[in-house]
Formats: sequence, structure tokens, C-alpha cells
Amino acid sequence: MTTSNNRIPLIAGNWKMNTTPEEGHALATAILDGISAKDVGFSASRCDIGFYPPATSLAFIAGLCAEFEGCKVYVGAQNMHAEESGAFTGELSSAMVLACGSDSVLLGHSERRHIFNETDTEIGAKMKTAVEAGLTAVLCVGEKIEERDAGNTMEVVNRQLEAGIEGLTEAAQLEKVIVAYEPVWAIGTGRTATPEQAQEVHGAIREQLGAAFEKRGAEVGAREDIRILYGGSVKPDNASELLSQTDIDGALVGGASLDAASFLGICEGCG
Ligand code: PGA
Repeated sequence: MTTSNNRIPLIAGNWKMNTTPEEGHALATAILDGISAKDVGFSASRCDIGFYPPATSLAFIAGLCAEFEGCKVYVGAQNMHAEESGAFTGELSSAMVLACGSDSVLLGHSERRHIFNETDTEIGAKMKTAVEAGLTAVLCVGEKIEERDAGNTMEVVNRQLEAGIEGLTEAAQLEKVIVAYEPVWAIGTGRTATPEQAQEVHGAIREQLGAAFEKRGAEVGAREDIRILYGGSVKPDNASELLSQTDIDGALVGGASLDAASFLGICEGCG
């Protein structure tokens, strides 16, 4: 079993329904400039970054990031449909996401699950389509407060994870997945999981990924290469403690990703 940890942290900003193209351009530019400004103490080799802007800015932001050499930048959609095309008003297909120049997509975000009532099965179908299209799929999982209080955190997270990767029948497909553990009660609430609470779930997710790799004929150790991000009220002042946990490989950031200084401050927490 491989025990080495060569995972490069990923700090990803989920802009949600915020920013016009102009505002997004200014935000992304300020972040990229900050990462390039090594003279002010930022070491670009510390992390990869990701931008998940609204669909209206996707092509624009992807274009802006395409030439950036300071670090790897993922640019992705916040959601997409499982079908390739058709009568699905208001939806985006994987081909459209790719044609914007983006390489990734967020799937199963808690707001998609709980405001828009997306089911585990639908999210699993989207994951399959995304990975088959060549996108890096960020699968978001996480329990509600009543589920945590009832002691059901791992049951919920395992179910969401299992359903999310069910259609990925080959180990190589699983390698295209990034998992984001976001306890619903910590999203946008200012209430963060403690590093210990987060590590406990991240460690269990990695165990389950090991079993998933084994089921697909790969070594259990392949799980060591998968990145598991934490999300939920990550800020510059709590980032480094969370990111120092063994199985926390980055952050999916909502509110604090809309401010360049805060986002850069979280990136600094990878150091
Ligand atoms: P937050 O959002 O950082 O504002 O809590 C995280 C997310 O929804 O991904």
C-alpha cells in the first residue's frame, strides 16, 4: 500500500451566483496577480487553484487563465446536466462546459442537493457524463446538522460518495475525481468544522475510496492520490489549521473566494 502523500493542495473558489463578467475578470486578475507577486511572499508552488464562476463568465475566465503560468488553474462550471443535449431549458451540457475552455465541474453541491432537490442518482449520472467527457469532477458531499446530531454523518457521506462514483467503473475514471467534504451546517454560516471533525470524515472518505479502487481492480493505495477538499466557512484565519490535517488536501471556498485578499490568504495557508 502506498502511504506517501504527494498531493498538491487545491484551493478552489465557488463564486455561486455572484459576479458579472466584469467583476469576475477583476477578481480573477487580482488573484492571479497576487500569485505571481512572489516578492510579497506568495510561493506559487504551494498549491493549485480553481475558479468556479457563473456560467456567463466561464469562457471569459477560462480564457484569462489559459496563459497563466504561476500555478495550475482549474476553471469549471458550478453544475451541468447528465444528458449530452436536448430539451433541458436552462441547463448546460458537458460539451458546452468543455467548449468554454474549462476543464472541471462542481457536482452535487449542497445547494444543488437541498435547494434544487438533486438526488444522489442524478448526481451520479452527472459524474459519469462529466468524467467520460474528460472533465475533472469535484463531487461535493456533506451531512446536515440533524444528520450529524443523530450520529449519521458517515452513513450520509458514504451514501453520497458511493452514489456519486457508482457509474465510474474503471479506476482511471476514479482518478479524475476530486471529493469536497462540505458539512451543510458549515456552509455560509461562519461555523467551521473543527480540524479534528473534518479530518475524521476525510480519513473515512479516503478509506472508502480505497475500497472503491479495489473494487475496480486497482490497488487500495491509489486512494492516496485523490484530493479531498474541505469546504464550509474557510477563511484565511482557519485555513492553515484545517489544511495541515493529513487528509485535507485543499479547500472549496464560497464567501471568502469573492475577495482576492481572502482567497490569497487561504492559499497562503497551504504553506
Ligand atoms: P462558504 O461556502 O465558504 O461560504 O461556507 C462553501 C461552499 O459552498 O462551497
